[in-house]
Amino acid sequence: MSTLKNDTFLRALMREPVDYTPSWLMRQAGRYLPEYNATRARAGNFMALCQNPDFATEVTLQPLARYPLDAAILFSDILTVPDAMGLGLYFAQGEGPRFERPLREEWAIRDLAAPDPTDKLGYVMDAVKSIRKALDGSVPLIGFSGSPFTLACYMVEGSGSDDFRTVKALLYQRPDLMHHILEVNATAVTDYLNAQIEAGAQAVMIFDTWGGMLSNRAYKEFSLAYMARVVEGLKKESEGRRVPSILFTKGGGLWLEDMAATGCDGLGLDWTIDIGAARKRVGDKVALQGNFDPLCLMGSPESIVREAEAILESYGNGSGHVFNLGHGINQNTPPESVDLLLQTVRNTSPKYHVA
Ligand code: CP3
Repeated sequence: MSTLKNDTFLRALMREPVDYTPSWLMRQAGRYLPEYNATRARAGNFMALCQNPDFATEVTLQPLARYPLDAAILFSDILTVPDAMGLGLYFAQGEGPRFERPLREEWAIRDLAAPDPTDKLGYVMDAVKSIRKALDGSVPLIGFSGSPFTLACYMVEGSGSDDFRTVKALLYQRPDLMHHILEVNATAVTDYLNAQIEAGAQAVMIFDTWGGMLSNRAYKEFSLAYMARVVEGLKKESEGRRVPSILFTKGGGLWLEDMAATGCDGLGLDWTIDIGAARKRVGDKVALQGNFDPLCLMGSPESIVREAEAILESYGNGSGHVFNLGHGINQNTPPESVDLLLQTVRNTSPKYHVA
């Protein structure tokens, strides 16, 4: 077992003392980086990047070579899981993800099964192992999955959507079928994350990108309940250390107390909520991750520094904060703005951690 040279991120998630507020950024490896676009061109397309462990390792490390980041995140996608279930993921040029065979028929829903993650998703586990080796204990590696509900959104809709009306129609017309999909997804996500942990992931995050579009009751019944099931089934320790889990529901500010009650270690916050107010609500139950508006990176240097400092100040003194964006980085983001943001957090945050 290699000891970590920088475990600030893992310590902050456990609310243990740290010297500064650690940071990483959602989608930190991506199209805003010219070196990512160059590797993607060599690989041919996005899925080829994910499926080749050498390419996946290369792009995972790219943002770490540029910026003072405290964690790496596995380069992959949440939609690898439904792809492994046989839905046929593809990315049409200039469009988002699509499935060849969306779940529309009752028989197809009844036939759905959780994939063996070491078989059809073996390329993800190979990427985790390869990235861990390349990191050589510099910073921890985060594994991830989509939430059962967010995966179901793409599986039923067959693509992204403005309103997800097909999946919402199913949820209201045939809640039994929706629950069946979510049960299978919860098993698939639990197995997939545990396989990532076994392969070397040192923390895991569940992305619930679309849970926030649900009504209060529907969120609890169709998204939160299944994330709670996943958290309960996760391997809690690996290599002699806690493997913290982070739940992120975009637009989930209303439900922080309920999310914290699942037993996860951290909550991701989008930018619509004041992080200091969120801290008061969850107390010492969980750490908080966030919550800089990704489009503030399009602002002036002064506005970037001001916003970053305001978030640190709002969280206040003590551990339990992982600095991040409130959602994935926009592809038009100037790379130098990201540098300014991360330098600001690294340089400003130590004063919140003096004993
Ligand atoms: O954070 C990271 O750097 C790790 C990699 C990562 C990707 N996708 C790479 C990616 C992670 C954590 C994801 C998660 C993901 N994927 C989510 C949940 C988080 C979120 O953003 O809400 C969702 C909903 C998806 C599904 C998905 N994948 C969409 C909607 C798209 C197209 C949108 C877009 O930005 O083009 C993807 C493609 C994708 N996944 C890209 C990357 C870098 C862009 C692909 C490319 O290079 O063309």
